[in-house]
Amino acid sequence: MDKKVGIGLIGSQFIASIHVDSFKKIKDAEVVAVMSPTPGNAKKFAETHQIPNHFTKLDDMLAMDKIDMVVLGAPNFLHCEITLKVAKAGKHIVVEKPFCLNMKEADLMIDACKEAGVKLMYGEELCFAPKYVRLKSLLDEGALGKPILLKQSEKHDGPHAPHFWDVERSGGGVSMDMGCHAFQFFRWLNGNNPVKSVYAQMSTTVHNHKTKGDDNGIIILEFENGVTAMAEESWTKLGGMDDRAEIHGAEGVAYADLLQGNSIQTYSNKGIGYAVEKAGNTIGWSYTMFEENWNYGFPQEMEHFVDCVKNDKEPLVTGEDGRAVMEIIFAAYESAGTGKKVELPFRSDAAKPYDLWKNRD
Ligand SMILES: NC(=O)c1ccc[n+]([C@@H]2O[C@H](COP(=O)([O-])OP(=O)(O)OC[C@H]3O[C@@H](n4cnc5c(N)ncnc54)[C@H](O)[C@@H]3O)[C@@H](O)[C@H]2O)c1
Repeated sequence: MDKKVGIGLIGSQFIASIHVDSFKKIKDAEVVAVMSPTPGNAKKFAETHQIPNHFTKLDDMLAMDKIDMVVLGAPNFLHCEITLKVAKAGKHIVVEKPFCLNMKEADLMIDACKEAGVKLMYGEELCFAPKYVRLKSLLDEGALGKPILLKQSEKHDGPHAPHFWDVERSGGGVSMDMGCHAFQFFRWLNGNNPVKSVYAQMSTTVHNHKTKGDDNGIIILEFENGVTAMAEESWTKLGGMDDRAEIHGAEGVAYADLLQGNSIQTYSNKGIGYAVEKAGNTIGWSYTMFEENWNYGFPQEMEHFVDCVKNDKEPLVTGEDGRAVMEIIFAAYESAGTGKKVELPFRSDAAKPYDLWKNRD
């Protein structure tokens, strides 16, 4: 392709703001349109970010020839339906995490994109986060020896929009919403070695009045090559987003703290305007982030996907990765529901992961 990759954004709220900010830094990309169904939202977003076209109807945006790649930032329950439409329109697509609601949807999405000859890219920015990329390089050069235990955790005090709390629309709680980051991160670190088994403990502890979903989860993966990985996920941790990883090897250990470890430790009597995602009260000590999106790897991720579309390359994170992560999520909810370790491959016809935990027959 000898022109800039034309981008169409779906969604105009939280993740769409991160997407548009990322594309501003990418010379080979041009955001040509934004679509959001709520009247006025896409228009306002387009004005704020100088995007030339805005739509309330997806079909209208997909009719634009100038769009080569669509980035999907809508709630989880819409990922499959929208991906099928985008594929049919012949546009490449980036699907935000988690991939979709169930295994059948994952298959439909992969098949539709294959049939249409478009790239299906799965949005997992942790594979592009500069600190985690460096962490992986320590493992890859052998500095830590044979890997034994991988750990990753993501914690904050709960999501910002109602659809996350509603298991019918989200598919599950924090073990799905944030566990999906850890599962793809582990697979990437461990060279896509197959996962052998999954064990999980989940609970709803603080937000029972708001959700049936889990607000805390601990998930242990066992890989075929003997590596163990442990994910800790929480929607009840106060004091701002926390994201960290560890690699324990036979000849070394490495700890990487993505946010707090890169922040400006700030004390203020008055509080500060913005410190970090979901910071809560910033009076007193807080962790003030700089270049938050860059630290997460969002611009790097989008630059990679643009390069894949422009130069017809294979993406680092694909629909198949999204499906593999969904399988682990399903196995985790099955384990939490049965109290047993679950062997992979694990296939379930459940409509959503949550059903294997609390909606068992
Ligand atoms: N990679 C990450 O770290 C990360 C972070 C946040 C959210 N996400 C994911 O991004 C997705 C959106 O989350 P969010 O935080 O932006 O939610 P949000 O509620 O802030 O925004 C959702 C957007 O989707 C739009 N939308 C609703 N129905 C739609 C439809 N039928 N067609 C098109 N758009 C529609 C809404 O109008 C809104 O603009 C979720 O799947 C979430 O898991 C990923």
